[in-house]
Amino acid sequence: SNMTVSSAPGKVYLFGEHAVVYGEPAVPCAIERRATVSVETREDSRVRVSAPDLSLDGFTVEYGGNGDERPDVNVSEGLVEAGIEYIDVAVEQARDAANAPNAGFDVTVESDIPLGAGLGSSAAVVVASIDAATRELGHPLDPEELAARAYRAEYEVQDGQASRADTFCCAVGGAVRVEGDDCQHIDAPSLPFVVGFDGGAGDTGKLVAGVRSLRDEYDFAADTVESIGDLVRRGESVLAEADPTDHPPEDVLAELGRLMDFDHGLLEALGVSSRTLDNMVWAAREAGAHGAKLTGAGGGGCIVALDETAETETALRYTAECEDVFRAELARDGVRVED
Ligand code: MEV
Repeated sequence: SNMTVSSAPGKVYLFGEHAVVYGEPAVPCAIERRATVSVETREDSRVRVSAPDLSLDGFTVEYGGNGDERPDVNVSEGLVEAGIEYIDVAVEQARDAANAPNAGFDVTVESDIPLGAGLGSSAAVVVASIDAATRELGHPLDPEELAARAYRAEYEVQDGQASRADTFCCAVGGAVRVEGDDCQHIDAPSLPFVVGFDGGAGDTGKLVAGVRSLRDEYDFAADTVESIGDLVRRGESVLAEADPTDHPPEDVLAELGRLMDFDHGLLEALGVSSRTLDNMVWAAREAGAHGAKLTGAGGGGCIVALDETAETETALRYTAECEDVFRAELARDGVRVED
C-alpha cells in the first residue's frame, strides 16, 4: 500500500486552565503548529517507529507489537520513551477500531510543536497516528470517535491524568468550549496568537494539587477559581459576537486581551506562574500585545499573547528567559489528511 499521512494541531488555552478542573468552563484553541504522522502497513505484525525530531538526534525503534511484546526502548531520554509509548497506544486503538489486531505498521512522526511544553504535542501525535493508521486500514473514524479513542490512549499513558480538552481540540480544530466532560466546537475569529516558550516545563500534577490545597484552605482562593469561570464566560460571549469568518476588530482583540491579562493575574495568585512566565508576559505587554497569559499548567513552559503585529514576537526574541517564540494563528482544521 501507499503511505497514509495525517497531521493534527497543537493548542493553547485562551482562557480557563486550572479552573476547568473544578467544573468551570475553559476555552482551548488549536494553533497552526502540527504533528505529522505517516503510516504504511507491513507484511508482518511488527511496528517500526521513526521520529526524527522527537529527540535531539531522532530515533528509530522496531518491536513485535503483537500485544505481548512491548517496545523495548534502550534510550535513557524520558521524552523518547514517552513518544514511543504514545505511538504504541495509538497503534492499539487503531487496530481495535479497525478490528485488525495483527496489523503491522511503519510509522514516521514529525512535529513542529515543542515537546512537553503544554501545547498538546502528545495529543497531536496520538490523534494524527490513530487517524493515519485507521485510514491506512480502510476504516476511517469521524472526529468525535477519533477524539474519544485518542483520549483513551492518553489516559493509558498518563495513568488517568489526561484531560479531554487536548485530544478533542486537536481532533476538531478551532476554538473549543470545555466544561466537565463536555467538549464543543465554538465559533471564533482568526486569533493572532504569539507563543513564547521558556524551554522548561512545570509539573502538572504538583501544580494542580497546589491549587486544590489553596482552594480548600481559603474561601478567597475558591472565589478566585470561580472568578476565572466568570471571565471565561465573558470571553465566550466576546467570541460569539465577533464575525468568525473575519480577522477580529481592534475592540474584540482589546477585550480578549484584557481578559487574558486578568486570567494570568488570577493564575499568578493561585501560585501557578513563575518568574520566567511573568517576565515573558510583561515583555509581551510592553511590546503592545493586547494581552498575555501563561498557557497550560504553568510553573514554566509557555505563554500566549495576542498581537497581530510583529512587535511581541520581536520583543520575546530579545527576552533572556524566552528560548523559542513563534506566531501561530488559530488552526481552523483539526486533524487532516496530508498528501
Ligand atoms: C493543563 O494543560 C491544564 C490544567 O487545567 C489541568 C487539566 O485540565 O487537566 C492545568
